This record gives sequence, C-alpha cells and structure tokens, in this order.
Amino acid sequence: MKVGIIGSGDVAKALARGFIKHGHAVLMGTREEGKLKAFADETPGVKLGGFADAAGFGEVVVLAVKGSAALEAVRLAGNNLEGKVVIDATNPIADLPPVHGVLQFFTGPNDSLGERLQNAAPKVKFVKAYNSVGHAAMVNPKFDGGPPTMFIAGNDDQAKASVSDILKAFGWEAADMGPIEASRALEPLCQLWCIPGFTRNDWYHAFKLLR
Ligand SMILES: NC(=O)c1ccc[n+]([C@@H]2O[C@H](COP(=O)([O-])OP(=O)(O)OC[C@H]3O[C@@H](n4cnc5c(N)ncnc54)[C@H](OP(=O)(O)O)[C@@H]3O)[C@@H](O)[C@H]2O)c1
Repeated sequence: MKVGIIGSGDVAKALARGFIKHGHAVLMGTREEGKLKAFADETPGVKLGGFADAAGFGEVVVLAVKGSAALEAVRLAGNNLEGKVVIDATNPIADLPPVHGVLQFFTGPNDSLGERLQNAAPKVKFVKAYNSVGHAAMVNPKFDGGPPTMFIAGNDDQAKASVSDILKAFGWEAADMGPIEASRALEPLCQLWCIPGFTRNDWYHAFKLLR
C-alpha cells in the first residue's frame, strides 16, 4: 500500500517507520523538507515532499500535525485528500501549559478537532485514531496485559475497517466508537494518557477495553 504522512514530528516518524517495517511505501509531507532529510537518510524507502504530495501519494493518508495547524494542513493538502482514508492522529492541544498535568485544549466538551476537520473537508474519510497513545507505543507495542485498545471514530465504515486492519497489523485491537462526534470522547483520552507522563515521567502505557 502507498501511505502518505502529513507531518514531520514524532508521530509522523514513528508511523513512517511502522509502515515501512510492514512493507508499505511511504511519502512524508512537510513544509520544510530539510527537516526530514536525516530521518529519510536513515529510513530507507521514505520519500519526501510537501503536504499535497503526501496527500496525492497515499492510498491511505496519516494526518500528524500540531492540532492548531490541522485545518491549515488539510487546506494545504487540497483536493488530493478527497475520497481518501485519513488517519487523524491530532489532538486539540492549546498553546498553554498543563494544569497539574492536565493538558489544556482549544476545543470545548461538545466539540472536537475531528468534527472540525470533517466539516471543513466533507469528502475526506477521516478516522480518528492513534491520538490516545504516545508515539513510542504506536507500532507493535509490548505490554504485559497484551494488545492494547485503540479507540477509533469516523463516519465511513469501510474507512474504519481499513484502519482497523492496519491497527491489527501494528499490534492493536481497534474499538469503533461510532461516527466522528465520538472524537469528543476520544480526544480527551490524550489528556488522561499524558497525566502520568507530566506528573511521574511515566510515558509508556496504553488503554485497554475489558469486556
Ligand atoms: N507526540 C506524540 O506522542 C503524540 C501522540 C498522539 C497524538 N499526537 C498528536 O499528533 C499530532 C502530531 O504530534 P507530533 O508530536 O508528532 O508533532 P507536532 O510537533 O505536534 O507537529 C509537528 C507538525 O505540525 C506541523 N505544523 C506546525 N505548525 C504548522 C502550521 N502553522 N501550518 C501547517 N503545519 C504546521 C509541522 O509541519 P512542518 O513539517 O511543515 O514543520 C509538523 O509537521 C499532534 O496533533 C499531537 O497532539 C502526538
């Protein structure tokens, strides 16, 4: 599969490595290719380009940019995203310090970045996923409790099925929480996930849904 990754940060790099490891072709999009040159040199198979190039290249596209820039990144990716499955790993983190370890968001409780993106680009099949775990555990994590759960949400069932297959290959079980409004519940999992990190420097854990 051809995977476009919009982003140059830790999430973009972790997922790029993961997709390459699992035999896919990857093009990473950034506004400044020089930023990713060293990473591309040490990660054979990774191609570089702009946001629109990543959107055009991918059969599946990952959106891994700063939350406050996500709408702008989707705008820059342009028509190339239309009809595509986009794994949206973003969180609406505000440019403010955490309060006693709790990240501050620029969205409120009955709103989400997932919905804002879907409303701005209705032809894109956004699937909120990978927003509730740190980059170090995104691909084939090892936990004593077995495979962790990735909560996902989105309006297109086929898109969610494709993302669930990717998650399974990457050592996760997917739990589909329904249409994109469920992002209102998924995005705050990022706040919960980060608390042990900010308060105890404990950054390696994941959620599991027990039945
Ligand atoms: N870090 C984690 O472990 C983690 C885990 C789960 C979810 N997330 C979420 O995943 C997303 C990516 O996180 P990250 O830590 O990898 O990277 P990040 O530092 O949050 O974001 C870096 C990316 O944002 C883009 N960006 C920044 N300002 C921009 C602007 N004004 N216009 C367009 N693009 C802009 C950058 O583009 P250029 O390449 O062009 O500079 C870069 O690709 C975030 O939304 C974060 O909340 C992070």
